[in-house]
Amino acid sequence: MKNAKSLTHISCEDVFKIYKIADLEVVALRGLDLEVESGEMIAIVGASGSGKSTLLNILAGYDLPSAGKVSVLGRDLLSMSSSEIEGYRRTKVGFIWQQTGRNMFPYLTAIENVELPMMLIGDKPEKRRKRAEHLLELVGLSERMDHTQDRLSGGEQQRVAIAISLSNNPPLLLADEPTGELDDATAGEVMKVFESVNQELNTTIMIVSHDQDIAYKVDRVVLIRDGKLSTEITRDKSVGDGNELEEFIIVDGSGRVQVPKTLLDQTKIERRAKVRVDDKGVILEPGDANK
Ligand SMILES: Nc1ncnc2c1ncn2[C@@H]1O[C@H](COP(=O)(O)OP(=O)(O)OP(=O)(O)O)[C@@H](O)[C@H]1O
Ligand SMILES: [Mg+2]
Repeated sequence: MKNAKSLTHISCEDVFKIYKIADLEVVALRGLDLEVESGEMIAIVGASGSGKSTLLNILAGYDLPSAGKVSVLGRDLLSMSSSEIEGYRRTKVGFIWQQTGRNMFPYLTAIENVELPMMLIGDKPEKRRKRAEHLLELVGLSERMDHTQDRLSGGEQQRVAIAISLSNNPPLLLADEPTGELDDATAGEVMKVFESVNQELNTTIMIVSHDQDIAYKVDRVVLIRDGKLSTEITRDKSVGDGNELEEFIIVDGSGRVQVPKTLLDQTKIERRAKVRVDDKGVILEPGDANK
């Protein structure tokens, strides 16, 4: 049973990330606002290059934003010292890389891989082994504990990756396209593991995906476009079997919205628009001559 969601787990406020290569600047995030509640399971969906991995890397403490505020469980990530960040990465956040091969040490068995992060924080061998066994059971791999990477299928490797990421019982799990390299059936199984982790351990989970259909498996999907959130999709639990999707445009802290390109094309709105209010809400109409 899921606990009541109330505490804000992640808060991003007007976050910018600019990468500089020689004289060239790439704006990967441009004023991104995002709030995630404790125990929420959320997906980030967006085109290639829209800033998804950049956001995840910042939340994981691997990178810092160029501007803006980022806090996780009330702690400001920008004001942490490097040793605090290291502690944060080891105990507060689990991370799953998209590239299956990057999540495991190939010469260690599944159970040794799961034990490793616990070793780094000084847990005793007996405690480590017990917890690693429990986590591998949770991801359905009790029969594969002594297998090395080359003796595990892609889906099994990603399930080990989930167990590894949970080894120090982090309250937050970040997964960058964890099912990107898997076939549909295996991806479905891995998603089920995320669901049970979210339900049983109440871990806040953020999953990057290319696939909007992930909306049926998570609490909320946010779409990222050009480094900003544009749209949010949730299930409307009040209709039918509760699987009807509802789409919303995000209104950011400064009142900005991104109107989907399809709607702009449909309404022939180009450079500027007229805004008025009627009894249903705000109406956007093509500006006079679209100059
Ligand atoms: N280390 C870096 N140095 C320079 N530019 C970078 C760096 N990392 C990312 N970028 C650029 O920032 C933008 C956002 O990249 P990011 O990796 O966050 O995209 P993404 O949404 O994860 O894409 P994908 O779906 O392809 O993984 C891209 O234009 C990318 O080229
Ligand atoms: Mg990426």
